[in-house]
Amino acid sequence: MSNFQIPHLRRLLDEATVVPAVNQIELHPYFQQAEARAFHAEHGIATEAWSPLGQGKDLLTDPVIESVAAKHGVTPAQAVLRWHLQTGNVVIPKSVTPSRIAENIDVFGFELDTDDLAAFAGLDRGERLGPDPATFDMA
Ligand SMILES: NC(=O)c1ccc[n+]([C@@H]2O[C@H](COP(=O)([O-])OP(=O)(O)OC[C@H]3O[C@@H](n4cnc5c(N)ncnc54)[C@H](OP(=O)(O)O)[C@@H]3O)[C@@H](O)[C@H]2O)c1
Repeated sequence: MSNFQIPHLRRLLDEATVVPAVNQIELHPYFQQAEARAFHAEHGIATEAWSPLGQGKDLLTDPVIESVAAKHGVTPAQAVLRWHLQTGNVVIPKSVTPSRIAENIDVFGFELDTDDLAAFAGLDRGERLGPDPATFDMA
């Protein structure tokens, strides 16, 4: 599934016999989706993040993320991708830049600690970059 919110998933689980394997939703440190992730986990649905790097905008120059990245000698994008992995998200960032594609896969040589994860937790703004699936206009 993609962009299914909890009420959509409840309806699906009520009416269908197959539990979805994955639900791809907007998810990044500024929009952490704790409730959706908990619901997915409860039902064995993998959470996949879209716009995982916040579309490469303000998120990657956030001072908190820059500080965590500097501590580990990595880039802000790598710190964000590591946060996704340690949060349990499936994460497939988009880049057309070969050096960034290489950078984005190179996230298995360091680990965020509890202080880093607490710093990330404090970044949640509950604000979407994309449209709200509850009101998205298909026309
Ligand atoms: N299901 C849905 O409704 C939905 C909605 C939106 C997106 N998606 C999917 O989610 C995937 C990713 O989302 P997205 O493209 O919106 O956002 P994203 O992956 O969060 O960000 C992509 C942007 O970040 C830049 N970037 C990538 N790696 C970087 C790095 N290491 N350092 C600095 N900048 C970096 C890219 O620039 P360059 O490309 O110029 O390198 C691009 O501008 C896409 O493949 C898309 O198909 C799904």
